[in-house]
Amino acid sequence: MTQTRGKPQYILGISAYYHDSAACLLRDGAIIAAAQEERFSRKKGDSDFPRQAVEYCLNFAGIGSNSLDFVGFYDKPLLKFERLLETYMAIAPRGFRSFLMAAPLWMKDKVHIDRSLRKELGYAGPVLYSEHHEAHAASAFFPSPFDQAAILTMDGVGEWTTASISRGEGNDLEILEELHWPDSIGLLYSAFTYYLGFKVNSGEYKVMGLAPYGEPRFADTIYREVIDLREDGSFRLNQRLFDYMGGLTMTSAAFDQLFGGPPRKPEGPLTQRDMDLARSIQVVCEEVMLRMARTAHRVTGLDDLCMAGGVALNCVGNGRLLREGPFKRIWIQPAAGDAGAALGVAQLIWHRHAAQPRSACGAGDAMNGSYLGPEFSDLAIEEFLQSVGAPYIALSRDALHTRVASLLAEENVIGWFDGRMEFGPRALGARSILGDPRSPRMQQKMNLKIKFREGFRPFAPSVLRDRLTDYFEMDVDSPYMLFVAQIDPRHRRVLTAEQESLSGIDKLQALRSDLPAITHVDYSARIQTVHPETNSNYYDLLKEFERQTGCGVLVNTSFNVRGEPIVCTPADAYRCFMATNIDFLVLGGFLLDKASQPVTAAPDQSWQHEYALD
Ligand SMILES: [Fe+2]
Repeated sequence: MTQTRGKPQYILGISAYYHDSAACLLRDGAIIAAAQEERFSRKKGDSDFPRQAVEYCLNFAGIGSNSLDFVGFYDKPLLKFERLLETYMAIAPRGFRSFLMAAPLWMKDKVHIDRSLRKELGYAGPVLYSEHHEAHAASAFFPSPFDQAAILTMDGVGEWTTASISRGEGNDLEILEELHWPDSIGLLYSAFTYYLGFKVNSGEYKVMGLAPYGEPRFADTIYREVIDLREDGSFRLNQRLFDYMGGLTMTSAAFDQLFGGPPRKPEGPLTQRDMDLARSIQVVCEEVMLRMARTAHRVTGLDDLCMAGGVALNCVGNGRLLREGPFKRIWIQPAAGDAGAALGVAQLIWHRHAAQPRSACGAGDAMNGSYLGPEFSDLAIEEFLQSVGAPYIALSRDALHTRVASLLAEENVIGWFDGRMEFGPRALGARSILGDPRSPRMQQKMNLKIKFREGFRPFAPSVLRDRLTDYFEMDVDSPYMLFVAQIDPRHRRVLTAEQESLSGIDKLQALRSDLPAITHVDYSARIQTVHPETNSNYYDLLKEFERQTGCGVLVNTSFNVRGEPIVCTPADAYRCFMATNIDFLVLGGFLLDKASQPVTAAPDQSWQHEYALD
């Protein structure tokens, strides 16, 4: 491809029709916009064509679809259809019912992606396809700070591949090894997620959060009966125990028999056995990750690692890779799930197909802090506030930081809406709910009164990068909240004999550190390091909180309630603020006090009921 002087090249990447649809736009290879469709449609994990995400990307660049040079799709639909067909043939007639359910959909939408894409976009130019794991690998390597790196991808399944090891160098990457369907670490973890009564594709985080309450007493059973794990990290799963190949559930009756009962009912109580199961599958997953990483190190001979695919969101496993794995540095794509594959395919087109050179960014990466979504000017925010008659005050940036920091120190919970929305599942200080981590009441308040979710789940800390080692046993950047590390012993508290003897959920009662709201029961924390280069406003707020309190850490949880996508617009944020017990809301340069809002501001407790089964 030759580049016309003066006219920028635009490439649109799309991920759709499976889960978490997304769009990403490159201008001359630079990632300028990316967003998940769920944020616009307000349907969590929305898998439809990402119409509004595409529209946002094109509007951001001020172009129409006719200005696109290429459109890329994140997997090869025919290969995927072949896998479905072969799987159903292999297990026929057992999977016939689910085949009958899936086939018409596939024939209608998925096999004819080319036609659908062109129709949706009103676009007649070239459409290119990458393999699913190639898109994941590209999303991990191309934006990374490394000139060359080993790349590890792990997820449920793409076309046939469930995990891959590649070598990335310069402007290309080469897949060296693959693991194929139906042997999948992502599906194994999802099977336990299902068995533990959580939603597949979103409840995996809950399993990881539950694991520290348990003991890995089922790990031996898993190694003996479920997974035949080899030294190099490859494995075979005992398919007799699963039903995902042809059935409508993840696990089979034989699985129930092996683990002593049917799957936990979603609304049922959490028992010690559930926690032990969670810990056991987490331990097995970490072992698979470690072995795969060692193999990636051996076959590439490189010291840096990039990761993507849904399993790379297992930040407890990532923390272990950092501490115990063979790599010197690890960089993980923040949108590690399928949304990020939209970015991967676009970059693959730019670097491989268009043969454009790539220069690694050195210290930083090419993700712009993952702040790639829509933003709203103060003018637009004020117009909105006036349209709904919401009382507010306008403050200068410094005055806002001073006020918000003191409100936080008084144990208020703040909705923090600022700048461009994050791309990927984590809130990173653009669409966040903030609290004081020193408060012994904060975890419960935020879980039950704001997020309306299970009390066992810990909150994550945002920490000033320059204060990281004062609080945690880690000294690498973690801007995307993808590494878990231990609280530094200086901040831990000695437990009484009585507290030591607590088990299960009761462990929550013991204050384990002087930052109890972000300390999990095993003293771990899922860390976001905050950097002035990528989010100076959030950094300055943390600095001001530190100045007032001496504490360089805040609780940062995503701005949403259970079951809802993270808020996107000022209207979403205001609605969430009004329907929960968030005390104050910051929208750009404006501060809203819940106590001054119209009477209709009473929290809508029906949300609690609505999402109780999530
Ligand atoms: Fe994937």
